[in-house]
Amino acid sequence: MTFYAEAIDRRFGDGGPAGGEGDNDFIRRVLARKTVRRYTDVVPDQGLLDLLVAAALSASAKSDFQQASVLRVRDPEKRAAIGKLFPAMPWIGVAPAFFVFLGDARRLQRIGEMRGKPVANGTLEGFFNASIDAALAMQTMILCAESAGLGVCPISVIRNEVDKVAAILGLPDLVFPVAGLCLGYPHGEGHVSLRLPRKVTAHSDRYDDSALSAGIDDYDQRRHARHAIAKEQQRSNAEFGEVAFYGWSEDKARQAVKAEGAAFPPFLRAHGFNFG
Ligand SMILES: Cc1cc2nc3c(=O)[nH]c(=O)nc-3n(C[C@H](O)[C@H](O)[C@H](O)COP(=O)(O)O)c2cc1C
Repeated sequence: MTFYAEAIDRRFGDGGPAGGEGDNDFIRRVLARKTVRRYTDVVPDQGLLDLLVAAALSASAKSDFQQASVLRVRDPEKRAAIGKLFPAMPWIGVAPAFFVFLGDARRLQRIGEMRGKPVANGTLEGFFNASIDAALAMQTMILCAESAGLGVCPISVIRNEVDKVAAILGLPDLVFPVAGLCLGYPHGEGHVSLRLPRKVTAHSDRYDDSALSAGIDDYDQRRHARHAIAKEQQRSNAEFGEVAFYGWSEDKARQAVKAEGAAFPPFLRAHGFNFG
């Protein structure tokens, strides 16, 4: 097996390309990465966290507008107040470190004012660019943190209570949370999550989802064989009933019926975005 083949097989198990030759350790780590929600009590060193913030803010930025901001929540009262909003996800309140990645369309608008230029950055473009910058900054921190032996968990559920979270963090107009990030040293091993087969998610020259149905059925079976969803974890059985085979796609379809994020559009409209 090549340097990457085993990690690719564990990630996809789809019989697709095995990664070719090479020995880039960072890439192999990325292939084997996993979200971590349980941590030891050790708080990562401040120097390491500063380094990770610097790495995050080194991510690419649309038009060099640099519309990401990173906020570390250190105040125990603020940590507890945010944690209390999401009792189903206790890791939010107790992770040794917690950051919030912000889309920051305000800074560019203020720079326009400073330079006497009519910048109106509450557009869809402004929102989208700031969101992407923040997401790239977060993912850069994720990969660097994992590479330094830390485990992380992104937290977009904070947007479900966006008004309260924004008040706790003192967010002004045109600044919005994209996601939080829990961070600490992993407690336990966890497992690599099997991804969809690449013939479903990777295209060449032309978009083609003609193999979707067969690809999803196959994926459901393989994922079930590796990590079956326990009966007590089946969602909304009262609404949809028990099914003989409960795979990933059944679970995700049920999850997606209950749309999340209703609080987010009104929050954005009330805080400077007109999406024009
Ligand atoms: C933008 C984003 C938001 C997420 N929000 C949450 C969250 O609120 N709570 C949580 O426990 N996990 C959250 N996750 C983690 C995903 O559930 C996880 O990445 C996914 O199940 C795949 O697992 P893996 O990263 O181990 O491959 C989020 C991930 C992303 C990328």
